[in-house]
Amino acid sequence: MSSLESKVAIITGAASGIGLACARRYAAEGATIVGVDRQSTDGWQAVEALSPKSRLHKLDVTDGAAQKALAQEVTQEFGRIDILLTAAGVGAGGPVGMLEEEAWDRVVDINLKGTFLSIKSVLETMTAQRSGSIITIASVEGINGTEGGSAYNASKGGVILLSKNVAIDYGRMGIRCNAICPGFIETPMLQELLDPMPEFKADIQREVKMGRLGKPDEIAGAAYFLASEDSAYVTGHALVVDGGYTAGHSHGVVEMMGLV
Ligand SMILES: NC(=O)c1ccc[n+]([C@@H]2O[C@H](COP(=O)([O-])OP(=O)(O)OC[C@H]3O[C@@H](n4cnc5c(N)ncnc54)[C@H](O)[C@@H]3O)[C@@H](O)[C@H]2O)c1
Repeated sequence: MSSLESKVAIITGAASGIGLACARRYAAEGATIVGVDRQSTDGWQAVEALSPKSRLHKLDVTDGAAQKALAQEVTQEFGRIDILLTAAGVGAGGPVGMLEEEAWDRVVDINLKGTFLSIKSVLETMTAQRSGSIITIASVEGINGTEGGSAYNASKGGVILLSKNVAIDYGRMGIRCNAICPGFIETPMLQELLDPMPEFKADIQREVKMGRLGKPDEIAGAAYFLASEDSAYVTGHALVVDGGYTAGHSHGVVEMMGLV
């Protein structure tokens, strides 16, 4: 029996990139997934092929009432919610003096408030069943600052601390909550950002100690670990999955010594 057999998961941002890769992985491990996204995608067919009861639901994560209604619907249909993974998010920002208030609100509303609303929507069911694993997708940009990051970094820093607080408040009820902090992962979001700026992409790749960008499936691997019983005693953790991007600085010494 695979370790997510008969588990029920809600995944936000499930139509693309990291959320879609996590849905595919959870489905392959035997879970039923209710995906949430504001767009639809043909990519979801692969999830349904692996897990026929799974479906993608059109919903905006800034709509708290709709998230609550969906969680109630899932609980009624399947009798439980074992896993929540929040991957819905947008990337945007800019130096504070140049950032419009509306742009700040949009990023913080989707990335941080949307995560809060997703977590809030499943807590009644998880508390009643006295179990659950909540996994938020934050970012390495929620740990360190980045040039022009502002709203995005602030929203992701907020997601990390929100996750730790959920772990503290609900741990005694059997609910775990962890954040994953991806580095630079090849998804539509990153492609849209970096494709017009190849010099920045090359510079980022130089800073990644493994010398390449990450793949969505490599985040799904961490998301599988945090959903499964293998992580039964892990909570309140911010798991960095970044190919060594935040490990420290390199200044060409190993190249000078002929190691690479
Ligand atoms: N790609 C990276 O390098 C990277 C790095 C660190 C963190 N992240 C985070 O990972 C998460 C997934 O990003 P991705 O790279 O897969 O991007 P993506 O654009 O491929 O996928 C994000 C998905 O979220 C959905 N979404 C956005 N706003 C929504 C809303 N209001 N309601 C419902 N769905 C909404 C989009 O429609 C999309 O399908 C995001 O939170 C992002 O900030 C990405």
